[in-house]
Amino acid sequence: MIEQLVTAARRARDCAYAPYSRYAVGAALESLEGEVFTGCNVENASYSLTICAERVALGSAVAAGVQAFARLVVVTESVPPAAPCGSCRQMLAEFGMDLEVIAVSGNGERRWRLEELLPDGFSSSDLSP
Ligand code: THU
Repeated sequence: MIEQLVTAARRARDCAYAPYSRYAVGAALESLEGEVFTGCNVENASYSLTICAERVALGSAVAAGVQAFARLVVVTESVPPAAPCGSCRQMLAEFGMDLEVIAVSGNGERRWRLEELLPDGFSSSDLSP
């Protein structure tokens, strides 16, 4: 259920390491089998090394042997709720464009399919022209 994913993403967000931006993000990625993988953003004094919450969740899933996903919930405090950044969209696209993406904050939610968020993205088919 979406509520369980929101709860999982909020818990992950509580673990965010964001001393530089002070912008905490939590993500919960649900597999087609119903498993849930979470992530939070992890910042670094070398700012560009920062990892977004969505990519932490994705990496956790892949490391557990899971590569097929149904939906992603991202929790922030943004108004309106913030969509995943471009880098995260690209990383998620590797595993399918049907992913439902749900952005949640204290001010409601927004929903998309990943194909709406990353039209004409680069993919493996571009590697063999
Ligand atoms: N951030 C995410 O975790 N996910 C996104 O999709 C956008 C941005 C993080 C990175 C950084 O720690 C903070 O939010 C501010 O950019």
